[in-house]
Amino acid sequence: MLSKTMVDALNEQIKVEFESSNIYLQMAAWAAWKGYEGAEAFLRAHSEEERMHMMKLFGYVGETGSLAVISAMEQPKSEFDSLASMFKQILEHERFVTGRINKLVELAYEEKDYSTLNFLQWYVAEQHEEETLFSSLLDKIELIGHDGRGLYLIDRELGKQAAAHAAGGE
Ligand code: FEO
Repeated sequence: MLSKTMVDALNEQIKVEFESSNIYLQMAAWAAWKGYEGAEAFLRAHSEEERMHMMKLFGYVGETGSLAVISAMEQPKSEFDSLASMFKQILEHERFVTGRINKLVELAYEEKDYSTLNFLQWYVAEQHEEETLFSSLLDKIELIGHDGRGLYLIDRELGKQAAAHAAGGE
């Protein structure tokens, strides 16, 4: 049985992951609107991944005999200055999520809640993977450049990553 503090914190993380899914879905819409097909596919896939993160938490809270609660969510931002600035925001957002996961881990330690601590290890690894992915994408954007041809190449790279993801690779 989880403590009320832990259940509240996990429910708060359900909100964070759900919001992440919405943020990336809205970004996918912006990318489509701007004609970045590769980025759209990449962001749609990432939105689905965030939904899966949310569902894992939702399942865990329920399995432990507690009530998963879905709360009101922030409306995501729908306008961006550029593809590069959008990816900067994604990296910042993922760093924010990592901070939230770290806080959950600290709480599980404090409460000697070893089941939740074990459950959270997956998120610790996932956040490391996501920060690495977005930081390397940003590096590529900086390297290839922000002109027309650079953007075309970046969009193509994002499309390839989305296709690899859909095929089960990463
Ligand atoms: Fe589920 Fe990208 O954090």
